Amino acid sequence: MGEGIFISFEGIDGSGKSTQAHLLAETLKTQGRTVRLTREPGGSPGAEEIRRLLVEGAPERWSAETEILLFTAARRDHLEKTIRPALANGEAVITDRFADSTRVYQGATRGDLRAVVDQLHTIMIGKEPDLTFIIDMDPRQALARGLARQSGEDRFEDFGAGFQEKLRSGFLALAREFPERCHVIDGSRTPETVAASVMEIVQDRLP
Ligand code: ADP
Ligand code: TYD
Repeated sequence: MGEGIFISFEGIDGSGKSTQAHLLAETLKTQGRTVRLTREPGGSPGAEEIRRLLVEGAPERWSAETEILLFTAARRDHLEKTIRPALANGEAVITDRFADSTRVYQGATRGDLRAVVDQLHTIMIGKEPDLTFIIDMDPRQALARGLARQSGEDRFEDFGAGFQEKLRSGFLALAREFPERCHVIDGSRTPETVAASVMEIVQDRLP
């Protein structure tokens, strides 16, 4: 069985990542592909337990350094238990967030910790997606969508609109840094239009 394809969706909170990850999964399934739809933080039972520590509670609950360790621990479990087995089985793995989120959220927005993030990634993860979609949009519009959900998982949304602006620039900078795998997609359009832009790129990459 050949190696499957590994696709990540990235972007600010409420930009439409999980909507697009679902739509892409459905389209690939209708083409007869086996799809593993997953998310971070989470994606395996152990990593879902770590997720609760990260997304609930007061914004100042963890320092950026502690967050890096927790997100990387969750990612390592996700990689071992879910991503690698599915790829080895030839599946299409679609994840709602991966290491680029740590590079931006912990590495670039609250002090310059990018080198720490990169070192830990090299030691503990050492894997990048084949394709990354950065869903880009105005943070005020995205924040309105995100807070409307009232999920109880709003610790990062609670950092506010200025924080979301920094995140947006951080993701756009990453797209320039990794032009081979990163594609910036305008997320302000209808879900179907965004999905069509994504699918055009995926189709080019699929065997
Ligand atoms: P994320 O995973 O990036 O936080 P979601 O996919 O959960 O974003 O979308 C956040 C909210 O916005 C949801 O209520 C969703 O239904 C809605 N939404 C998603 N995509 C769009 C879109 N293209 N246009 C309008 N609303 C959208
Ligand atoms: P997620 O459930 O994707 O939130 P949303 O649907 O609102 O985009 O992720 C939860 C939060 O965790 C989100 O605010 C981003 C943050 N996060 C990091 O700070 N670092 C990371 O490495 C990851 C994966 C997520």
